[in-house]
Amino acid sequence: MTGLEFHRHLNLQPKSPSERAEILANPGFGNFFTDHMVDVCWSENGGWHRPRIQPYGPIEIDPAASVLHYGQEIFEGLKAYRHADGSIWTFRPDANARRMQASAARMALPELPAECFLDSLKALISVDAEWVPSAPETSLYLRPFMYAKEAFLGVRPAKKVAFYVIASPAGAYFTGGVAPVSIWLSEKYSRAGKGGTGAAKTGGNYAASLVAQNEAYAHGCQQVLFLDSVEGKYLEELGGMNIVLVYKDGSIVTPLSDSILPGITRDSVLQLAEERGHTVTRRPVTIDEWREGFASGEIVEAFACGTAAVITPIGMVKAEDFTIGSADAVAGELTMSLREELTDIQYGRRPDTHGWMYRLDA
Ligand code: PLP
Ligand code: COI
Repeated sequence: MTGLEFHRHLNLQPKSPSERAEILANPGFGNFFTDHMVDVCWSENGGWHRPRIQPYGPIEIDPAASVLHYGQEIFEGLKAYRHADGSIWTFRPDANARRMQASAARMALPELPAECFLDSLKALISVDAEWVPSAPETSLYLRPFMYAKEAFLGVRPAKKVAFYVIASPAGAYFTGGVAPVSIWLSEKYSRAGKGGTGAAKTGGNYAASLVAQNEAYAHGCQQVLFLDSVEGKYLEELGGMNIVLVYKDGSIVTPLSDSILPGITRDSVLQLAEERGHTVTRRPVTIDEWREGFASGEIVEAFACGTAAVITPIGMVKAEDFTIGSADAVAGELTMSLREELTDIQYGRRPDTHGWMYRLDA
């Protein structure tokens, strides 16, 4: 199947312009949702069918739906940006579409054709364009997701699946804005294991991170950093972001592992750094290397990156027995300059020489 024709069932009680303006003035992250959602069905016999735009609202789900029991679910996250001329764009959605297919393959869910993925984003923007904010650093976060809805308690891949896209106006992911964050090193819990689902964007990975995220909060940290589950010494990623280290000579290192999510933000920012002449290496990197490298002055910056967090400087890592950095650390220079270059491209303030931007409102 190629392009989808969306049946439109419009929300007859959308938010009023003043209610919407109030939300867009201070959206935070993930708190508010637009007036509509995309809803597409899949069945083993019928494939993808019944593409609809419908009013945003609760979904009816059978209590025996396998997602509620066995967690067969995947999702994506990308943003719609309002450019100065009013047009609406997103960033590398083809990469999100491909990653969703890879997640689907791992979770025994059906693959949604990339064209349908893109069409679904455009369909939602065609009815909710006014929800894309225009203030600096704001965007409309798009959340496509797919889950097993067949009512069946046997453990096997579901024969009926739902695909939705919802959208949520977004400001900064962290309440402090772009200020350096503190992260908690989880030495007790792993997020993902060898041969597991770490490289897929599936709910279970996030469920597995929550108890460690609670530990992070208890230690005054905003995010949790996970190590590999076999030796407990190699950096993996944060609960919802990739991690990047910057060395004194300008070289950049990011963990290589098959149990972390291949981030599109990370891939893009590392490409920008390489084009500036920085040496970028994807290799296993231990927490001891970071600790010793920070102490000796060899490692000078670290940042977290992801669609929601964009690029967020890391000021401090706290562990049970040691800390790296300090709570009052200032944001790294390269971190902030790469952040500016990336967001300039996303918001149309600099030419898109890589063909990364995709127009959603035309
Ligand atoms: N790692 C995890 C666990 C994530 O949830 C995300 C966010 O989607 C990322 C990394 C960064 O991925 P991306 O840059 O594609 O948003
Ligand atoms: C994203 O950045 O899109 C994510 O899925 C991360 C999540 C913590 C909001």
